[in-house]
Amino acid sequence: RLLIIDFGSQVTQLIARRLRELSVYCEIHPYQSVTEQTIREMDPKAVILSGGPDSVTREGSPRAPQALFDMGLPIFGICYGQQVMMEQLGGAVEGGHHAEYGRAFVSPAEGHKLDGIFAGLFTEGKEQVWMSHGDRVTKLAPGFEVVATSPNAPFAMIADEDRKFYAVQFHPEVHHTPNGKTMLENFVRMAGFTGDWTMASYRQEMIEKIREQVGDKKVICALSGGVDSSVTGILLHEAIGDQLTCVFVDHGLLRLNEAQEVVDMFRNNYNLNLIHADESDLFLGELEGVSDPEVKRKTIGKLFIDVFQKYADQIEGAEFLAQGTLYPDVIESVSFSGGPSVTIKSHHNVGGLPEKMGLKLVEPLRELFKDEVRALGRELGLPDSFIGRHPFPGPGLAIRCPGEITREKLDILRQADAVYIDQIRKHGLYDEIWQAFAAILPMRTVGVMGDGRTYDYAVAIRAVTSVDGMTADTYPFTQEFLGETMTRIINEVKGVNRVFYDLTSKPPGTIELE
Ligand code: XMP
Repeated sequence: RLLIIDFGSQVTQLIARRLRELSVYCEIHPYQSVTEQTIREMDPKAVILSGGPDSVTREGSPRAPQALFDMGLPIFGICYGQQVMMEQLGGAVEGGHHAEYGRAFVSPAEGHKLDGIFAGLFTEGKEQVWMSHGDRVTKLAPGFEVVATSPNAPFAMIADEDRKFYAVQFHPEVHHTPNGKTMLENFVRMAGFTGDWTMASYRQEMIEKIREQVGDKKVICALSGGVDSSVTGILLHEAIGDQLTCVFVDHGLLRLNEAQEVVDMFRNNYNLNLIHADESDLFLGELEGVSDPEVKRKTIGKLFIDVFQKYADQIEGAEFLAQGTLYPDVIESVSFSGGPSVTIKSHHNVGGLPEKMGLKLVEPLRELFKDEVRALGRELGLPDSFIGRHPFPGPGLAIRCPGEITREKLDILRQADAVYIDQIRKHGLYDEIWQAFAAILPMRTVGVMGDGRTYDYAVAIRAVTSVDGMTADTYPFTQEFLGETMTRIINEVKGVNRVFYDLTSKPPGTIELE
């Protein structure tokens, strides 16, 4: 294994992600918990020192255990990690004055052979790197030489080849350092990693960890039918079997046949304890007459928690709540906590539940990114069709039915959505589109069908491309596709006589209509 000592950088998890991509097993440990003894027990083959927000010039700032540097292990220091190495090995670091943020270019220092962990770099002269530092190294520790410099960091890349100590001022783990991965790869190969770690190994490790954390206690999990909560549920089931109970809260705002499909998949394929909490009457009852989007969201969010709690209370002795929190959720909540960000929409989740119910959290996906969760899902046997599904919001069809929600409108919406998605699949477009859905508009319009006048609902169809849902662009359908879809929806769904195509990108629109 490789040990990453975390000094608190926002991007430490990206180091782990790059290493997983190289099929290398690594563990991140916060610097506070790493001692000489824990390192000896872990017996890593190599160590990476991460970046961090502190300044090594500040008294009491974080350090690595001094003994680490005498263990004969290859060490790679990144940003703050580089400064820690210099400080602890006899070099010097200066604070302030030379801050550098963002894109920079480093050039090779004269006379370096650029082999070993630097092989394959500088093939075009310079390398683009991503900097984010306030301090910089001013004097190298004995044994080190300069490998490359940037205008603002004379010691941008340094090495002590005898001891296999390497350090860089920039962040090789981020996307904006295009060749950073080459460096990390060279480093791990040099350290003797063959790259035999797989998602299958991750699955086994997580299962061990869950067993260790949970012991013989009971766990409850809110299953939504989405990828994250499904992978969480299945992984936990594999780890602790019947100690797990999943609650699937059916709020009556799901797509056509969705509730049954989810329940069947979990009961038939995984044989896990699943409570199908069909509470659609409760939810739709409470939503009657509600048309304000925020009131809708809050009503659904609050009911969801109440319902979940009601079912959870029936499971005697549950001590843990399992959640499918992903790494991006973790960084967002850290970097924005207390920040001045505005609420655009109250997002629906089970946050706040654990404290209220006195439950401890199990979050087996906390280290993973979405595409890795999908890979783990495949590893756990979830069908591709399920893993590749478009995102679906917690409040469900409620936010695709602007204005007041009625059962009649929901039925029309479900059918129109099913026809639309069927069209997209038939044309082989599903995987090209990030999210597609139909919405039902809060109005009726006049039409003519056969020889008669109609006065029916209008449906809007929406399809966007996006990477993370934060921004989105409209998917450009062809006229033929749009025409065919319009005809099918109006012919196949009773109660609709008009179809709109939503052209709005995000911003200015949001993806959902409410
Ligand atoms: P918006 O509409 O904010 O949506 O542009 C961005 C993405 O988030 C989904 N979404 C939600 N997901 N709970 C969720 O789990 C919610 O309350 C929620 N609201 C929006 C939306 O479907 C899109 O993928």
